Amino acid sequence: MTATKRTIEHGKRDGFASLSGGGLKQDSFPLRLFAKGNAKHWNPADIDFTQDAADFAAMTDDERWQCCALAAQFLAGEESVTQDLQPFVAAMAAEGRFADEMYLTQFVFEEAKHTQAFRLWFDAVGMTSDLHEYIEHNEHYMEIFTEALPESLYALGDDPSPRNQIRASVTYNHIVEGTLALTGYFAWHKICAERGILPGLQQVIKHIGDDERRHMAWGTFTCRRHVAADDGLYDVVDERMQELMVPAMGVVTGTVDRFPEGRVPFDIDINELAEYAMDKLGRRLGAIESARGADLFVIDVDAEPEALEEQFHAEDQRELVAAAAG
Ligand SMILES: [Fe+2]
Ligand SMILES: [Fe+2]
Repeated sequence: MTATKRTIEHGKRDGFASLSGGGLKQDSFPLRLFAKGNAKHWNPADIDFTQDAADFAAMTDDERWQCCALAAQFLAGEESVTQDLQPFVAAMAAEGRFADEMYLTQFVFEEAKHTQAFRLWFDAVGMTSDLHEYIEHNEHYMEIFTEALPESLYALGDDPSPRNQIRASVTYNHIVEGTLALTGYFAWHKICAERGILPGLQQVIKHIGDDERRHMAWGTFTCRRHVAADDGLYDVVDERMQELMVPAMGVVTGTVDRFPEGRVPFDIDINELAEYAMDKLGRRLGAIESARGADLFVIDVDAEPEALEEQFHAEDQRELVAAAAG
């Protein structure tokens, strides 16, 4: 008996992926991420920010400004990614990839939790007035979050083609998460770990960083499977990275450009951050490139994108232990 090919796309459904022969492929990459995420659930409301409020009150005005600017970029960024991932969920349904759709629903939920966590932190330290001034001075930030990110994601609504999926994933997973957020976490860790301050925020960053490793791994996986299926699409990865490199670096340096060199609060070293961002980007690009010519069945279960993020994490941990000791 031959299996009937059924569709699960919205408005065209004539069957159900979960009822099909063989069931859901639990060892596929997205379902492994889904299971991992379920096991790592955390609740932002459980985090105690009492000491953070005291540490915040004890800062100098410049330090407080710098802290708010970084946290406001995160808060607005988490809200943006919560909203802007949703066209990708629909694109996976259009492609009949229910396992990816399942994983992306968890992914969206986690971004909403991240938004909640940063908002709770601002509330706890008493910053309840309008916070837009902390992001609007950074023109590159505004360009990425009000133009590049939504434009590339909502393009999937009209055309969820592999090309558009790559442009969306590079923008979302590799630039916004893989470069901007990752560099931001690194900055937070260094500020907090070296001074032993903001313990609540340290916990938030640890949980969020952990979630983000799965998000970025999914992005790498998605680009890999398209590049493995059509080698010409590697150029789309490269092209989108090039388009966003300058604004992405502008966001990183724009975070501290209000202060003269050598006077940046918390001794933030912008060159170190920029170098960190570029290194991660280059290596993630390498992981996508390694999928060129690969077998799609291998890509579907290959753990390389996950292993890469775990390796980055282990490197960061070593660096932060050294920073805390020094
Ligand atoms: Fe997030
Ligand atoms: Fe994320």
